[in-house]
Amino acid sequence: MRFGSTEIHTIQGDITKIKSVEAIVNAANNSLLGGGGVDGAIHRAAGKGLLAECRTLHGCETGKAKITGAYLLPCRYVIHTVGPVWRGGSYGEADLLAGCYKNSLQLALDNGIRSIAFPSVSTGVYSYPLNDAARIAVHAVKEFLASHPKAMDEVVWVLFNAETKAAYDKALEELAAEMTSAQNNLNAREARRANKSAVIGFFHEYEEYGCFSNWYPASFTYAGNYYLNAEQFMMYHKLLMFGKYNMAETVMKTDNPAECKKIAGQKFPEFVPEIWEKTCYTIVKRGVKAKFSQNEDILKTLLETGTSLLAECSPYDEKWGIGIDISDPARLDTKMWKGRNLLGRILMEVREELKQELILSSDGKLKYVEAKFLDPVEEWNRTAGELIQIPQFRDAIHAYSDTLENSHLQDCFYYTRSLHDWETEMWTNKNCVLHAAGFFEMKQEVYEIAQRLRNYDR
Ligand code: APR
Repeated sequence: MRFGSTEIHTIQGDITKIKSVEAIVNAANNSLLGGGGVDGAIHRAAGKGLLAECRTLHGCETGKAKITGAYLLPCRYVIHTVGPVWRGGSYGEADLLAGCYKNSLQLALDNGIRSIAFPSVSTGVYSYPLNDAARIAVHAVKEFLASHPKAMDEVVWVLFNAETKAAYDKALEELAAEMTSAQNNLNAREARRANKSAVIGFFHEYEEYGCFSNWYPASFTYAGNYYLNAEQFMMYHKLLMFGKYNMAETVMKTDNPAECKKIAGQKFPEFVPEIWEKTCYTIVKRGVKAKFSQNEDILKTLLETGTSLLAECSPYDEKWGIGIDISDPARLDTKMWKGRNLLGRILMEVREELKQELILSSDGKLKYVEAKFLDPVEEWNRTAGELIQIPQFRDAIHAYSDTLENSHLQDCFYYTRSLHDWETEMWTNKNCVLHAAGFFEMKQEVYEIAQRLRNYDR
């Protein structure tokens, strides 16, 4: 495996025969005066010169390392390290063993050595459990290389038998997997952090990310009505809110969002700014959510924005936009924003909600769990009095009936006509006793609740 610029691997063989590295590591004992196992093999292969030099070192502490020449060995240096004797694991053996690898590498670094071969320190005579020793060894090397990047070109374990080699291969595989998942998490965190600060600006429906504009031609249905774009939905409900049915009907007859805006922008005495201010966000959000949940292509675009901040770059609309032009770099700095960006906020809320509500349908496509509000719901043909007997509908009905002036009017609303007939009455009788403000929002709520109940029943 590669760790930065270092190749880390294992081979099975006799460490005294390795020619490809500058230094081999000896699993010595504290005297440094030779012994059995790999220590004995190295001293036999190196000849008397090695022992003579070792005598001058006056021993070595466990976990530490000392360096000598290699004499008759094919490499240039021998780094002698003393591994811990295994005594059950509660005498600091793990740290001492890790120290053998780190101190050996430090010595290599101090001597300009860039390639090194290790035996399986402490797993012979010193009886360190092989798999634990292998895991400690590879992590110690990784930690050293992480704090000394570019220090080594090659680190190789030369393992005397297949079982030992398998243990180190497994340890390296586990390490690689850990590093991959750590990197993935890091990438994901970096991406989220990058995404989080990333601002995606949009404005005209014909520009990049134009589908986020309410003027973008994406048709959808809601509560039995068919809309050509979100602007039409918004202006239609703004007019209904104040009983301007003729103007509302005109809005529904044009496919031009600018025309919709112009019609609804006309001054009319019934308009109550406080009511519109209080309800416009919810109304627009309903239309935007229906638009994206019913058009897969733009839904994909919305979801692909991850957690980026979506900003309507309208230079003059400081309510729905940020009050900064799309060409102005200041748009990327939220501290510079002048507007409330209500449309951007709605899009981000809808993005998060749809992420929760979407399911993969049998054909593998993302499908919005809620129905498409295609068909009128039979609940709308009941009276409000009947509907409030069903707990799920109670709040929606009360949200409207609470706005009626007195209990007489409330009783009239609850019991004299079905909701559908009240709607017809509003459209046809300009002197309808009920006001429209909130009535069509109630209709949308009733449709949504009915559809949700149907979904749960499936
Ligand atoms: N090449 C590579 N690995 C070898 C070789 C060799 N020529 N000879 C033995 N080994 C392996 C063993 O199979 C074991 O997997 O080295 C590993 C370490 O075993 P030991 O040499 O016994 O070392 P250790 O467990 O650290 O015990 C050190 O043993 O040799 C004495 O003087 C040494 O007292 C010290 C103790």
